Amino acid sequence: MHSVDEEVDVDLRDPVATDDDAFRRLVERLSRQSVEKHYDAYADIPWDDPAYAIDPDDPRFELAIDDPLGRTAWYRSQEAGVRSRIGLYRYVSAMKIGLQFENILKRGLLEHAFVLANNDPTFRYAYHEVIEEAHHGMMFQEFVNRSGFDVPGLPWAMRFGADRIVKLGKHFPQLFFIFVLGGEDPIDHVQRETLRSGRDQHPLLEIIMRHHVTEEARHLSFARHYLKQEVPGLSWARTQVLSIATPLILGTMAQLMMQVPHDLIERFDIPDEVVREAYADNPDHRTETVVALRKIRRLARDLDIVTPVSKLLWKRLGIWSDDEPGVIDL
Ligand SMILES: [Fe+2]
Ligand SMILES: [Fe+2]
Repeated sequence: MHSVDEEVDVDLRDPVATDDDAFRRLVERLSRQSVEKHYDAYADIPWDDPAYAIDPDDPRFELAIDDPLGRTAWYRSQEAGVRSRIGLYRYVSAMKIGLQFENILKRGLLEHAFVLANNDPTFRYAYHEVIEEAHHGMMFQEFVNRSGFDVPGLPWAMRFGADRIVKLGKHFPQLFFIFVLGGEDPIDHVQRETLRSGRDQHPLLEIIMRHHVTEEARHLSFARHYLKQEVPGLSWARTQVLSIATPLILGTMAQLMMQVPHDLIERFDIPDEVVREAYADNPDHRTETVVALRKIRRLARDLDIVTPVSKLLWKRLGIWSDDEPGVIDL
């Protein structure tokens, strides 16, 4: 089995290549990798193997002690069956939100591909990504269906904006790909950390996360390099929009991905003070959120879209850090 940290090769330091050539080669390489290593939502997951069945009493679903809610005294004092159900519900909800987010992403990618010129290698890459995301959507929905929890997913206010985000794929793709990174990067970070932790995982969760991080590495690589290629040529006005929108998107997406949803709080009657203890009043949680966004914050700096005004927003939203120790420049 390959390592969680296995990344696609994204070395663009070719002294003879122009930027355009290097970007084209990267996109062509990502497309080839999509052919060489990809997963089918059904053929590659043994859904009906009894060892992969979902039992809500399975203690492997319990939130870990390093989870912000999992470490509260309230959670630890619940009966074992409640602890495992809260943990399972959390995974199920994250998958529902993930598949809805990726639905928006697929539609935006198709909008983007619709206006590409003949022979643009991004067309093929975008279609590979749409196909991969379709498999992710199917595997996430299958997990949701088999869990027995009828979770709602995205809050209604975020569904409301979905069509506008889709249209950005055609009209303002640079902003669209910031949104893509905002949704993909924090969850990728959480999945990698979970796999790295070496905790005893349910085999269905483990295989889903492994398939997902492998393919997401390509998606993240494309989005980062697309932005590096395209943002420097943007007009002043569009650059300003990006600089302000980026922290707003990241602050919202990170909160959505890294905290339990309201429907979980209501369903399990979690007291307000426990929720505050887990998130708003928890410095470790704030640090973890800042860490989860470190690669994309570094990218925002590289793209010169952190202005004095937008930096205030990053800080106000609690997602700023002055330095990024240990971030590899991808
Ligand atoms: Fe995905
Ligand atoms: Fe993706």
